[in-house]
Amino acid sequence: MGSHPSSYIREDLISLCGRRTMQPCCGNSVCHVLMLVLCLSAAEDFDWTKNNHGSFYYGTFPTGFSWGAGGSAYQTEGAWDKDGKGLSIWDVFSHKKGKIQLNDTGDSSCESYYKIKDDISLMKEIRLNHYRFSISWPRIIPTGVKSDHVNGKGIQFYDELIDHLLENHITPIVTLYHWDLPQVLQEKYGGWQNISMVNHFNDFANLCFEKFGDRVKHWITFNNPWSMAVEGYETGEHAPGLKLRGTGAYRAAHHIIKAHAKVWHTYDTQWRAKQKGLVGISLSGDWGEPVDISNQKDIEAAERYVQFYLGWFATPIFHGDYPQVMKDFVGRKSVQQGLGTSRLPVFSSQEKSYIKGTCDFLGIGHFTTRYITQRNDPTGRSSNSYFTDRDLAELVDPRWPDPGSEWLYSVPWGFRRLLNFVKTQYGNPMIYVTENGVSEKMMCTELCDEWRIQYYKDYINEMLKAIRDGVNVKGYTAWSLLDKFEWDEGYSERFGLYYVDFRNKNKPRYPKASVQFYKRIISSNGFPNQREVENWRRKAVEMCSSSNQLLAAEEQRSTAANILRLIHDPLTSHMEMVTEIVVPTVCTLSILISAVLLMFLLRRRN
Ligand code: NOJ
Repeated sequence: MGSHPSSYIREDLISLCGRRTMQPCCGNSVCHVLMLVLCLSAAEDFDWTKNNHGSFYYGTFPTGFSWGAGGSAYQTEGAWDKDGKGLSIWDVFSHKKGKIQLNDTGDSSCESYYKIKDDISLMKEIRLNHYRFSISWPRIIPTGVKSDHVNGKGIQFYDELIDHLLENHITPIVTLYHWDLPQVLQEKYGGWQNISMVNHFNDFANLCFEKFGDRVKHWITFNNPWSMAVEGYETGEHAPGLKLRGTGAYRAAHHIIKAHAKVWHTYDTQWRAKQKGLVGISLSGDWGEPVDISNQKDIEAAERYVQFYLGWFATPIFHGDYPQVMKDFVGRKSVQQGLGTSRLPVFSSQEKSYIKGTCDFLGIGHFTTRYITQRNDPTGRSSNSYFTDRDLAELVDPRWPDPGSEWLYSVPWGFRRLLNFVKTQYGNPMIYVTENGVSEKMMCTELCDEWRIQYYKDYINEMLKAIRDGVNVKGYTAWSLLDKFEWDEGYSERFGLYYVDFRNKNKPRYPKASVQFYKRIISSNGFPNQREVENWRRKAVEMCSSSNQLLAAEEQRSTAANILRLIHDPLTSHMEMVTEIVVPTVCTLSILISAVLLMFLLRRRN
């Protein structure tokens, strides 16, 4: 989810006691008084359908709740061409000019390939119960085709990672596919446009079960197939960068769903009895809330938004077929466009029963929410795309905090709504939250990430409320452990609990304040009471200022080294001078000055 559909419109929304309408539901003061009374009487209510957005719930999670953090192979490993690894579509895509912010690549990223032990110490510091990572397919099968060659060194790397995690009592949750398809499969077959991916992926998964399944008990087939399909094959913002509008995403998704089901069956028939693990899928979904809850069209549009997002994958997996609303909308538009068949592919009845029920647990990746209103495609019948198929517009409330990524607004209550939606739509499945977190977009280094503390506090609290609502959430994965390569955004957006200094060859990690805060949530298994939680926040922020100083000193040293290098390099451009010298120097100086000021103020207070 490096970027989001550019189709949303930023508009002001009127808010009334947390409920908003584009037009007031009835235009007189009696109505407003009535609304106020309703809002006040809802304050004590614990019904998620009521919009009691502001309240905080103090309490603990069920015993055994699993706390984790995550990352993925291409985003963190680096070592893109080492020890026999084959090329992935992301290696090739990121090396093309103009695809990634500042033309960055994941070539070395966090160098996690070389830092297993260091990273596990960070996890131990937070006392994580699980770590979610992905296996790079081309690292263990360089061409993607198992019969060609299996790379022993790749297997060895993941063996060591898994062993070290287990030695440290951290459960591995392993994703088989987090977007890094072997390039050969893209070139030969067109990647996920081609049905042959189903068998190749199944061979790869089967190899992973064989090699690692004695120790790995939680498998995720695909991470966020929505993004793979839409950004990889519809908008082309992600690898492989294809723009097959109106058809590419649907076709890719169709094959991904079949591949998921096949791998689940492979595990079920060949490995489950012996290994006793679980196989799920990780779906991402923003929540869609109707702009005007009294307008049936908006209600339907919001439902469509969620069905075209999460439901696109979840409905076949839980119920055997695409959501009816997708079949209706894409089908109708295809007819209007003069096509003989729907652009949304069709499952045969055999396929439907093969796919239905192939999920031992559902992974949910969730970051944000949108307001949704009905909007017909203004470009008319000829336009042909996943986005226009939905007949809706996405809106945001300008008061929602948006500290980092352009698409990521902090709307905690949307999380509880999404979790409840999953419960009611799919028969209360076992859920692991596989991604949730927030980024920062700053040139300057800032380890005192109070906004992230706020985000985690509120989102985790909404998850706790959802569990009280009866949603079956078993674990939570903070996204992400480290700052890392953020797809088309390069390194410009930092999601990590730990800051990574990418300009330093050793890629040192520094804890942000949120590490301390998350650690407290984990050790208390929730939120004990207001005073304590407030104390955690204060202490976390106090502690981070010393890490800030450490980092500033380190950065000063590396900036000095860079200045010398650049001054001696005749090819240095002005732009480089600005990003490599001026910005870091200004940042470092400001951090040092704030540290001195802070110390001065603290002394005066004592
Ligand atoms: C979802 C993707 O799975 C993950 O790789 C990415 O870092 C986050 N979105 C944030 O954009």
